[in-house]
Amino acid sequence: MKVAIVGSGYVGLVTGVCLADFGHDVICIDKDQSKIDALERNEMPIYEPGLGELVAANVAAGRLSFSNSLEEAVASAEVVFIAVGTPSRRGDGHADLTYVYDVAREVAVSVKGFTVVATKSTVPVGTGDEVARIIAATNPDADVAVVSNPEFLREGAAIDDFKRPDRIVVGLEDERARAVMTEVYRPLYLNQAPLMFTARRTAELIKYAANAFLAMKITFINEVADLCEAAGANVQEVAHGIGLDNRIGSKFLHAGPGYGGSCFPKDTLALMKIGQDFGSPLRLVETTVSINDQRKRAMSRKVISACGGDVRGKKVAVLGLTFKPNTDDMREAPSIGIIQGLLDKGAIVEAYDPEGMAAARQVIPGISFGENPYDIADDADAIVLVTEWNAFRSLDLDRLKAKMRVPVFVDLRNVYRQAEMAKHGFQYHSVGRPEAGLRAEAPRKAAE
Ligand SMILES: NC(=O)c1ccc[n+]([C@@H]2O[C@H](COP(=O)([O-])OP(=O)(O)OC[C@H]3O[C@@H](n4cnc5c(N)ncnc54)[C@H](O)[C@@H]3O)[C@@H](O)[C@H]2O)c1
Repeated sequence: MKVAIVGSGYVGLVTGVCLADFGHDVICIDKDQSKIDALERNEMPIYEPGLGELVAANVAAGRLSFSNSLEEAVASAEVVFIAVGTPSRRGDGHADLTYVYDVAREVAVSVKGFTVVATKSTVPVGTGDEVARIIAATNPDADVAVVSNPEFLREGAAIDDFKRPDRIVVGLEDERARAVMTEVYRPLYLNQAPLMFTARRTAELIKYAANAFLAMKITFINEVADLCEAAGANVQEVAHGIGLDNRIGSKFLHAGPGYGGSCFPKDTLALMKIGQDFGSPLRLVETTVSINDQRKRAMSRKVISACGGDVRGKKVAVLGLTFKPNTDDMREAPSIGIIQGLLDKGAIVEAYDPEGMAAARQVIPGISFGENPYDIADDADAIVLVTEWNAFRSLDLDRLKAKMRVPVFVDLRNVYRQAEMAKHGFQYHSVGRPEAGLRAEAPRKAAE
């Protein structure tokens, strides 16, 4: 099939290369000329494991190409995917649909013959209706079926997620699109990935509901972690104990510094606004957003307290900046708020991240960057592990401690075991795992 993908970021590029790998003839389009130039030199504009090799193989096979103009590609395409960004709109938190609607107008003037326009971007309920209206208004002769095909891939495991999805959701209003979308995903369908057809508005809501549910799950265990610290219980064991219940499941129950990234923060906010607009507020989601916002600041307070209540003039070394491992994406990374909280209290911050430092320089001013974990540990008064890259799971603890001025280690991802850290002489603090011997008093009964 001939496929055009408009927007070649994390989602567009991965979708494009995977569809090419299935045998389709794909053109990835982006208006950012520097991205297209890089891709044509086989340099990846983003860090995503396995992406470079897969792009190179499909370009070499003649199935994948890149362009900064959509005209030709759209004219010959049977399916056009819209995969541009839908960031939070400044000021009110609604999803900013400017990029999606711009693409709709551009596509409208270029389409030839019956074409399926599939929105992969995460968009509020009713956006498909508006995309269809814009296309019809811009070019009354355009013969298109607008479908919603939300994407569920995770950065850092994007290729695997795309090729082995839990489900593929297609929301349509025009039955002609069913056969086309079935053909697009045939290799996955043959692999037994459930292909779920539904109405367009339902598909749009499935994506937001899924992300909001996962964000609530993370936020729930984070609050339980706080209670564990206060009450002398261990959140990892609580998470294990509840996760073994199939109705709950063990994933997304890792206590930490709060969720971040390119999706959860903006999507929870957008869903909250969608609910309010429809007069059907989602109060659980509203509360989740508020708890998660406060958590980053709370994590800086945790570090300050681990440093004896004051960080003015003290050096804090930060391990990991990206919102999660195996990506270079810094969008809404918890590290940003945590570091800001430390800087506000006078700390000197030096950080290291295996892939995120170029992006971090743009969004975190006022800090310095080192070459590796041991480099930034030099003369540090504390180390804070913020993102659990594999490279931080097996640090040479003796070497690290020897470098530090004060051996305080704040592990916001519960990577290390308390006993091990104590053995190496660290003052170790983690999330929801009270230090041995520091059991809080049980609350007194009212009668006492
Ligand atoms: N990143 C993820 O993990 C993920 C997962 C699932 C869904 N999504 C959703 O997918 C969408 C895209 O996210 P992303 O992370 O890939 O964004 P991104 O910012 O990495 O990529 C978007 C790309 O679109 C390009 N673009 C914007 N307007 C254009 C136009 N008119 N013509 C051509 N190109 C244009 C931009 O230059 C950019 O390269 C969002 O709605 C997001 O919510 C993202």
